[in-house]
Amino acid sequence: MAEFVGAVDQGTTSSRFMIFDHSGNEVGRHQLEHEQILPQAGWVEHDPIEIIERTNTCLQQALTKTGLSASDLVALGITNQRETTVVWNRRTGRPYYNAIVWQDTRTDRIATALDRDGRGDVIRRKAGLPPATYFSGGKIQWILENVDGVREAAENGDAVFGNTDTWVIWNLTGGTNGGLHVTDVTNASRTMLMDLETLDWDDELLGFFGIPRRMLPEIKPSSSATAFGKTLANGPLGGEVPITGDLGDQQAATVGQVCFAPGEAKNTYGTGNFMLLNTGTELVRSESGLLTTMCYQFEGERPVYALEGSIAVTGSAVQWLRDQLGIISGASQSESLARQVEDNGGVYFVPAFSGLFAPYWRSDARGAIVGLSRFNTNAHLARATLEAICYQSRDVSDAMTQDSGVTLETLKVDGGVTQNELCMQIQADVLGVPVSRPVVAETTALGAAYAAGLAVGFWKNTDELRENWNEARRWEPTWSEEQRNEGYGRWKKAVERTLDWVD
Ligand code: G3P
Repeated sequence: MAEFVGAVDQGTTSSRFMIFDHSGNEVGRHQLEHEQILPQAGWVEHDPIEIIERTNTCLQQALTKTGLSASDLVALGITNQRETTVVWNRRTGRPYYNAIVWQDTRTDRIATALDRDGRGDVIRRKAGLPPATYFSGGKIQWILENVDGVREAAENGDAVFGNTDTWVIWNLTGGTNGGLHVTDVTNASRTMLMDLETLDWDDELLGFFGIPRRMLPEIKPSSSATAFGKTLANGPLGGEVPITGDLGDQQAATVGQVCFAPGEAKNTYGTGNFMLLNTGTELVRSESGLLTTMCYQFEGERPVYALEGSIAVTGSAVQWLRDQLGIISGASQSESLARQVEDNGGVYFVPAFSGLFAPYWRSDARGAIVGLSRFNTNAHLARATLEAICYQSRDVSDAMTQDSGVTLETLKVDGGVTQNELCMQIQADVLGVPVSRPVVAETTALGAAYAAGLAVGFWKNTDELRENWNEARRWEPTWSEEQRNEGYGRWKKAVERTLDWVD
């Protein structure tokens, strides 16, 4: 009898395949990075073929390493970097253009224009999103307008769109030999094209971007026994495994952190940070710069909504210290360097490299380091970088309290940066609430596995999943109220300095 669930996590910097047992423990994994293609300032692309090839290798290698085969897997879940846009030919399987990544800002004119004539407010109301370069709609429009032949191919049904979940599922289920063209509600809610109440593509929104409806995948629940087909017998797993879960990576992490009750929240620390608060079956409209988005929908159940604070640059600011400034040789060194000083020495760093996302949504912002004096060293800058991760999270956490009335009691965290003990201590200090990290820190893949396993009865219900969650580490706040307020006040002042930078 099959005893395991597999999960593909197709992320921004790498793709991985993980295998979990019934207790939610990792049994095996394989992970491969892919190239970040940066053709010009503000542009970020991935090669969709490279992504598929690496994903396939991860599936094969994880089975080889664990000695398991397709028949040991009861189901497969897919999770993905959201918003990243692929357009391909359904008859040849060839992408028309590289994937345009969520961080890419080439569509800033498209996004700005939406707010000049009232379309922006319609998008806010129907899709729950502020017009921004971040989401898929403008990226599809850009491809339709700038890549030869795509407009015509889209009109006649040959050119199709998908986020990377759709691209992976289409390939795993048959590709040009009849792959399924599907997505789930969480991914669809990141396009500016889906109405959050009908859970269907909206013709008025499609019209804003000039996108033909036939380009778009069918929208399904995030967990479903039948919606996503099965892997090919002669595919990378070497056997047929039902694909029964599909959800965006941040929503998957919310499921992996078992945030199933309204008021429960998690914060994931990756290249960016994404805090999601489950608001239950109630659609809460943000007045404070957060996104209203889908949290998940399990088949046969009412959809669950979330408020989200998306921060574009957090872990990638640490990478910037390493790659562009060369003041550290690896991410973990940011901790030892920052520990050389007691505090930030007056330095604040606002890494607004892609403008500022939540709660500001200012594409005209650019990064700034302020408060420098000759006394300051690399160590202060390293500390200011870790603080920037935490202050940005405070910005979105305050916005969530304003929108929902829910005051955070503990913050559940996950993601690579949570290995940085100093950063997590600063997070508890800046927020004034304890920070808690679970034993299984791979909550994104775990959440996709949970969605897949629930659909086939491998896990009976969410209560059973709650039992799998165990705390590994907790950080308690140590700053006084005065210290916290002073630091945050300075941070807000520093943010002011970054605005109105780009005309
Ligand atoms: O919205 C973007 C987010 O889904 C990317 O997550 O972990 O791939 O950087 P990650």
